Amino acid sequence: MARKIEIGDMITIGALAEKLSLPATRLISVLFKNGMMVTINEKIDVDTAQILVGELGLDDIEIVSKQEEIAEKETTKIVKREVSDKAQVRPPVVAVMGHVDHGKTSLLDVIRSANVTAGEAGGITQHISAYQVEHSNRIITFLDTPGHEAFAALREHGAFLTDVVIIVIAADDGIKPQTLEAIRFARKAGAQMIVAITKIDKEGANLDRIKQQLSEQQMIPEEWGGDTIIVPVSSKTKVGIDKLLDMVLLVADVEELKADIDVPGEGLVIESHMEQGRGSIAVALVQHGIVKRGDFIVAGDTYAKVRTLENSLGETISEAGPSTPIVVSGFKALPQFGNTFIVVKTEKIARDTVAENALNAHASGSNGGMTGGELIRLINKKTTMQELNVIVKADVQGSLTSVIDSLKTLDTDEVSIRVVGSGVGTITDNDIRMAATTGAIIYGFNATMPPNIKHIASRDKVQVRLYRIIYELLDDAKKELSELLIDEEIITNVGRLIVRGVFKTTKTELIFGGEVTKGKLVVPSTVTVYRDEEILGSNLVVTNLKHGPTDTKEVLEGEMCGVNVLTANRIDLEEGDRVEFFTKEIRARSLK
Ligand code: GTP
Ligand code: MG
Repeated sequence: MARKIEIGDMITIGALAEKLSLPATRLISVLFKNGMMVTINEKIDVDTAQILVGELGLDDIEIVSKQEEIAEKETTKIVKREVSDKAQVRPPVVAVMGHVDHGKTSLLDVIRSANVTAGEAGGITQHISAYQVEHSNRIITFLDTPGHEAFAALREHGAFLTDVVIIVIAADDGIKPQTLEAIRFARKAGAQMIVAITKIDKEGANLDRIKQQLSEQQMIPEEWGGDTIIVPVSSKTKVGIDKLLDMVLLVADVEELKADIDVPGEGLVIESHMEQGRGSIAVALVQHGIVKRGDFIVAGDTYAKVRTLENSLGETISEAGPSTPIVVSGFKALPQFGNTFIVVKTEKIARDTVAENALNAHASGSNGGMTGGELIRLINKKTTMQELNVIVKADVQGSLTSVIDSLKTLDTDEVSIRVVGSGVGTITDNDIRMAATTGAIIYGFNATMPPNIKHIASRDKVQVRLYRIIYELLDDAKKELSELLIDEEIITNVGRLIVRGVFKTTKTELIFGGEVTKGKLVVPSTVTVYRDEEILGSNLVVTNLKHGPTDTKEVLEGEMCGVNVLTANRIDLEEGDRVEFFTKEIRARSLK
């Protein structure tokens, strides 16, 4: 009989775990395996919860929603910033999201290569996380698919910068957990959705099935009388790409996307890294106002006097307006992915704002929310804790934060991960040195390792592991953590013998015979010898078992046998004494 669990339209992982009587970490790890980066407070919807219980093997549980709550909450949209009547039309900001391998990158590549021409003639395309394409003489800004981790981080920072989310669904695979997450993200962000059904050139493509699945998500296709725009595309044959871009512009027009120009420049940092000779570089998206070379801009706990300003093609520009991705140098330190930035008038104001930001960040406390009990547990934990030292490198700040956050979720009461170093960019000899001195493993996420560094690493016996898929990285870290767990010793009482004859007692050896009255005796094993309740000797190693005149490995209940054991001192064994046999099994444990 199916068990029903009622939830609202959404439920937190923690609350669901409670309803299922499972540790939240079980649920989180299953979601990780599906590429969803979640924390215990993350909310998932009915469909995701249903998939999740399925993956947990709880097929008899049906997740049902309390209907009345749905309609209301679904429509909660974030309030977008008000603009004045002087506001000007700006390009739409578009993100491509969807399940692993459904063709996000391929789609972006096709769009980019067909529509970005200027400046690329030389073939030098610096890969940045946002760029603009031209279509029908208009500009569209694309955020490169930053991976769900980064989006999750963005969401946490409360920043919603996408106007349109292209939900990518592979024609031959249909809606998957990350598709649902993408849909949810778009809804939360108040972004418009356009569905791109990809890989339609493939055998097994089934558009109707996907339309059906979309309808189940209250996304009724236009051709079925709803308002969900669906564009079938193929990145291979390039069919549908133009239509997709037409639709993006159409949606943008309906939305009347505008921004003010005559306000201080403002926007969001979407990537940051160090560059040789240029220092801290930030890639940012301007949302309002104008950013110019020479401006002072504050982002989180750092600021810059904009030294160089480039567009997404790496071309120098003197100013940039709304919806423009920019590459900025001149920051005093690396700004964080997700930081909002704002242009201020003077360096003094920049410094003061940084100080103020730091103060606010401190007040809202990063370890806030921890109860006294948790803190005590944390302190106690430290003493017996086995730690795995790691150095994490990632391509962009967003992934770095996500990888580190995810690694921390693997901690248990016994083992934990200690990040001894981290950074954005390729793996350097410095990382290798640090790893060698701290015994750390280097994890690279979408990070590269130059051949000479690889050489140094192998010379210094430093382990460098490069991953492109987050859960594979996490699985590996989990395996390493499991190695640190103290092996489990399983001791089992296998049998009992009553002494019927004592043949030899010396300081180091005891030989006796008797009857097995319970279970069976085996070798190897250890014994504890009792006279009534008194222990005459314990943990004595059995060296031989004899059944009649022959050596044996096993004697069964009801049989007579002879036993040799090693002792540390003489034991005056007597007839009638009781000998309990134990086996010991060492079992390596692993993290769940
Ligand atoms: P992740 O970044 O790993 O989540 O994947 P993705 O969504 O970016 O998918 P990607 O573009 O890397 O494509 C995954 C695989 O599907 C690749 O082998 C592509 O060549 C293939 N693929 C993508 N689009 C198409 C398409 O339109 N037709 C066909 N036949 N194959 C495609
Ligand atoms: Mg990809």
